[in-house]
Amino acid sequence: MATAFLPGLFLLDVHITFLSGAGANEQIVLRWVHFVAGITWLGLLYFFNLVNVPAMKELDAATRGKVVPVLMPKALWWFRWSAVVTWLAGFRYFMIYLQTDAANAHEPALFGKWMGMWFGVWVLAFVVIYGLLMMAQTALKNNGYVLGVLVAVVTTGAAWLALEMLSHPDVSNRTLSIGVGGGIGTMMLLNVWGLIWRCQKKLIAWTKANAEQGTPMPPEATKLARLAFLTSRVNFYFSFPMLFFMATASHYAFLAAK
Ligand code: HEM
Repeated sequence: MATAFLPGLFLLDVHITFLSGAGANEQIVLRWVHFVAGITWLGLLYFFNLVNVPAMKELDAATRGKVVPVLMPKALWWFRWSAVVTWLAGFRYFMIYLQTDAANAHEPALFGKWMGMWFGVWVLAFVVIYGLLMMAQTALKNNGYVLGVLVAVVTTGAAWLALEMLSHPDVSNRTLSIGVGGGIGTMMLLNVWGLIWRCQKKLIAWTKANAEQGTPMPPEATKLARLAFLTSRVNFYFSFPMLFFMATASHYAFLAAK
């Protein structure tokens, strides 16, 4: 461990020793970037769900027509790109964990197998949930509770599959935890770009045209607004188990292969 004694800090009764080695320094940079981007993403997700939705209901159409085209493009820009940065930093971090566990198992080839299966399980779960969201306003009779239960069943099934596929004596609690939490985070990212942003982009343009030129809102606007709302709500509830597993990774070793 290299020691660095910074002359300028003679005044400080603390020894500052930056860790040596690319691995340790890469991980702290990844964790830092992951935190900052993750706080930005979740902060905006909670703003949309807890503040923006109820506030917009209280505004009259004319005021909404002024506020939405100004507020939402900025908020959604930071929302969708912080989601990408959070995911990239987290995914790279997760790769390090899988590579380390595969090396500990003396089977480096396991890394590709585990990564492929993990990705497959969570993308498949996203596709099923995408289908449920698309039929929420028809087959599910617009009942958010029924949708919630079905999404919870699919997510629990995917978490079980991911843990089963990663269950190896050399796979650590932190990898198993992120195997679930990172998977939920991956579905949240796909919901942001695959549904929320695509709906909101149209709704903002229609609201702007309506406010500025008096162009009537198209009939599908209500359906898209409901779809964006339901998807954002799903992400809101996903954030709680996702953060639980982010925290258990290094602080609560409760997962291990039998
Ligand atoms: C909204 C999305 C996410 C948020 C807000 C988030 C937040 C966090 C937080 C706060 C930690 C630190 C835990 C701690 O040090 O105690 C963490 C750790 C971590 N996250 Fe995420 N995360 C998100 C998504 C993801 C995704 C999608 C992945 C992977 C694909 C991921 C991979 C990781 C990894 C590998 C760690 C390090 C675990 C450890 O050893 O402590 N995260 N995340």
